[in-house]
Amino acid sequence: MARILLTGATGLIGGAVLHMALGRDEDVTWVCLVRCASIEQGRQRVAARLERFTDPFTAQRLARKVEIVPGDFTRADHDMDPRLDECTHVLHLAADTSWWGGVGVFRTNHDGTLALARRAQAMARLERFLHVGTAMICGADAPSLVDETAYPADGARHIVGYTQSKAATEISLAEQFPDLPIVVARPSIVVGHSTLGAAPSSSILWVLRAADALRMLPCSPESCVDIVPADWVAETLVSLLTKPDLKHDLYHLSAGAAGRTRWADVIAAFEAAEPSDGVRSFRQFDLDRDSSLLRKRFAEVFGLDDASKRAMLRATRAYYAFCSLDLTFANERLIEEGFAQAPSLASYLPICLANSAEIVEQFSDDLEMFAPAPASPASSPDLPMAAIA
Ligand SMILES: NC(=O)c1ccc[n+]([C@@H]2O[C@H](COP(=O)([O-])OP(=O)(O)OC[C@H]3O[C@@H](n4cnc5c(N)ncnc54)[C@H](OP(=O)(O)O)[C@@H]3O)[C@@H](O)[C@H]2O)c1
Repeated sequence: MARILLTGATGLIGGAVLHMALGRDEDVTWVCLVRCASIEQGRQRVAARLERFTDPFTAQRLARKVEIVPGDFTRADHDMDPRLDECTHVLHLAADTSWWGGVGVFRTNHDGTLALARRAQAMARLERFLHVGTAMICGADAPSLVDETAYPADGARHIVGYTQSKAATEISLAEQFPDLPIVVARPSIVVGHSTLGAAPSSSILWVLRAADALRMLPCSPESCVDIVPADWVAETLVSLLTKPDLKHDLYHLSAGAAGRTRWADVIAAFEAAEPSDGVRSFRQFDLDRDSSLLRKRFAEVFGLDDASKRAMLRATRAYYAFCSLDLTFANERLIEEGFAQAPSLASYLPICLANSAEIVEQFSDDLEMFAPAPASPASSPDLPMAAIA
């Protein structure tokens, strides 16, 4: 019987994993390592995340099915809780995803993951340790079609410290834990849910909507975004975790060349969903050169009257910096392994728009990602995070 240790159960993808997996009648025990003061509090935190996917009663019922281990994965190597010993699989999702969080992000994502890997070495029945990285470890100078094997790369120029921490984690895992059955999954950009739309999360969805409202793009409408929905990511991660034999130990979880979406199609989806706004005319602008233009337009459309809107402008600039890279992440490995192609963004964007709140309100889902680095000795002078801050 499989016993799966899940970190990150209270996050977007962790919630999608549990919502999908606990709804099935399978002989699997999910053990969730959750930051909490008590098992009951941890269960309620998991239930609160599940409520984004289902009704409160079902969320409570599903949350009762998991084993809660209160804890912090960054100290897992000191956690002698015997419930961890018998785990057969680890799905490591937990991470600090804040972009400007300084050295604290590195400590959590890099040092913390190594602590979890040390704990996994004491799991005698361990069959697979699925580490979830990010396809964005390729950095800002990657070719437009990114291949899994080219990264992590020495000297890659990272736009934010978060991706740098994830790249370093992959290197250290490979160097220091050759004895562990590690597989790495690198999702591209996760937005919405293919049937529940914006209900589970409006993370990053607000950026697409803000671009539509601003009618400004930092790239050509013919350039593409590689976006996948949370439910497809969850399904694919669980299959990668449990498939007995895999051809590779590293996979992009991405739309790939066949499934990526042109900005022109994103715009068309907005036109179809909100026809009252008519045919859109977008201005293409240069993010570095025309930064004041973006600020002026943002102020016209959203206002800049409070701190959260100013944070939203900074976040919009940051996402635009990634958009202007026009990256697609190769997914042939995944398809050849027999996994389904992700639904295209254009196919499920209408569902996301149908149950969306106000754009500024949706930004609150990402607010923590854009918290400034703490002004303490913990702030790292050598992380190259100044590029877009
Ligand atoms: N979402 C995307 O677009 C995307 C794209 C590529 C890769 N990824 C990767 O996918 C993974 C999951 O992403 P997500 O979007 O689901 O993240 P998320 O919503 O930000 O959730 C992060 C999760 O990590 C947990 N966590 C953070 N620090 C922890 C600690 N010290 N101990 C225990 N738990 C801790 C959080 O728990 P608390 O609730 O206690 O804070 C939360 O459950 C991450 O590794 C991320 O890098 C995400």
